[in-house]
Amino acid sequence: MKLIIAIIKPDRLEAVKQELYKTDVNLMTVNEVLGHGRQMGVTEVYRGVKEMGNLLRKIRLEIAVNEDFVEPTIKAILNGAQTGQIGDGKIFVMDLVECVRIRTEERGTTAIG
Ligand SMILES: Nc1ncnc2c1ncn2[C@@H]1O[C@H](COP(=O)(O)OP(=O)(O)OP(=O)(O)O)[C@@H](O)[C@H]1O
Ligand SMILES: [Mg+2]
Repeated sequence: MKLIIAIIKPDRLEAVKQELYKTDVNLMTVNEVLGHGRQMGVTEVYRGVKEMGNLLRKIRLEIAVNEDFVEPTIKAILNGAQTGQIGDGKIFVMDLVECVRIRTEERGTTAIG
């Protein structure tokens, strides 16, 4: 199992969601966050809303998936989020050691999806 965390532009969220649904990825957590990349938020200001100093509003998606879904999920995020402009975001992939569905106490690959 892997935990995929993606930081994307807020105006790409809807497109990323649609791409994920097409890929049969329907479970996700979404947060509004602040961040900056290597341009330190400076050259992106005219594209995004400048919130705190040089930090820009971004969306952080968390998606826990079984191994088979790792590459399809990455592709879906790329399809929905890539504009080719600076600040398009990043995808981080981490090993996930456990997942527990609280209602049923199912674990692991059964609980994840
Ligand atoms: N190394 C990192 N660690 C943590 N968060 C990051 C990192 N790189 C990017 N982010 C997050 O992703 C957001 C978007 O990053 P961004 O796309 O600007 O990355 P970049 O490396 O500057 O690439 P680009 O040159 O395409 O802009 C940032 O605002 C920040 O929230
Ligand atoms: Mg950047």
